[in-house]
Amino acid sequence: MAIIRKLAITQFRNLNQQYIEPGERLNLFIANNAQGKTSLIEAIYYLGHNRSFKTKSLKELIQLQHQQFQLDAKVDESRIKLEKSKQKTQINIDQIRLKNSSELSKVLPIQIITPDKGFIVNGTPKNKRSYLDWGVFHVEPSFLLNYKNYNKALKNINTLLSQQKNQELDYWFLEISKLSADISQSRNKYIEQLKNTNSNELIEGLSSLFNAIEFFNYKFKSGWPKEVNEFDHNSVYQYLIKNKDFLLKSKYLNYGSHKASLNFFLNKKEECFLSRGEQKTLSIVFWLTQVSLMVKNNIFPIVLIDDLSSELDTTKIKTILHFLNHLKIQTFMTDIGKDLSFIKDENPVIFIINNGIIKRQ
Ligand SMILES: Nc1ncnc2c1ncn2[C@@H]1O[C@H](COP(=O)(O)OP(=O)(O)OP(=O)(O)O)[C@@H](O)[C@H]1O
Ligand SMILES: [Mg+2]
Repeated sequence: MAIIRKLAITQFRNLNQQYIEPGERLNLFIANNAQGKTSLIEAIYYLGHNRSFKTKSLKELIQLQHQQFQLDAKVDESRIKLEKSKQKTQINIDQIRLKNSSELSKVLPIQIITPDKGFIVNGTPKNKRSYLDWGVFHVEPSFLLNYKNYNKALKNINTLLSQQKNQELDYWFLEISKLSADISQSRNKYIEQLKNTNSNELIEGLSSLFNAIEFFNYKFKSGWPKEVNEFDHNSVYQYLIKNKDFLLKSKYLNYGSHKASLNFFLNKKEECFLSRGEQKTLSIVFWLTQVSLMVKNNIFPIVLIDDLSSELDTTKIKTILHFLNHLKIQTFMTDIGKDLSFIKDENPVIFIINNGIIKRQ
């Protein structure tokens, strides 16, 4: 069960050196604009991923006039310490230096809901893959190795195609076919599990979010054309061989697991026809289903929600928070804090952020 017991932040964006002890369930951070809400969410996300959801530039994250930032957290019984400067990155878990950042997300699994990352329903295929693969990775950790090897094979194939090196291609076509079939199977299996998680309990818990949840559906798109059986490596391989000349002309592989996506439907209506409100709500239903499935697998992720009330009405917020509390999930939520008395029943631990300083109320 991932619970952040203590969190120390030093020189991350506008958050100066400080330390907080969050509550086990709902933590609410209230501040006006530009006080540090998103910075806090970003800091926690960073600690679980060794990257930001907002920027690739380290310079933006380090507080102005400083040379490094530090994040240090006690998560359950483990201690994660992350230090970053232009010159070096050092990440330790329990004082052992980390080689691979995927270890971080095992200790600190995070599900994030923020307008900055975009909604999944009617989102970009890249965003869809990122949420999908996050889920697959957590229920099937071996997926990561296939995924990495796939990307290596893809890189080699694209190099060979661009250099018109015909001979070596067959070997890599076979490699990528096997890896892609495995990846498609893992992704598809995960989606089936997600659909089974749409149990009565989940639908009941979220019913006030949406009247027609039962007609919410999603379909896996493997990234290969229709004629290919994406789960059968031989079918993928035959397709590649058959289209070799065409691929040599186009100079890169434009199909495959790196192009996979999810198509969402509501009452058989395609996602692009849905209203923005419907897209947001269904995205949240999808993310909460992912969290539910993880809990079923005995993994309790931390949920980060930035700026929720700017996105949803009070009934919906209440439903979401109640749902997460019921699952025994630790949640960090930010808000500009108009009237939040309606979430009192969820017993939030409230913090106020003022000019980068976080204080418990
Ligand atoms: N590297 C940095 N060093 C110092 N300050 C920074 C840095 N990066 C961003 N800031 C500033 O930190 C402040 C807080 O930004 P943040 O995005 O956390 O605000 P917020 O509370 O989420 O506001 P909003 O309600 O508008 O979303 C902003 O004034 C921003 O310009
Ligand atoms: Mg913000």
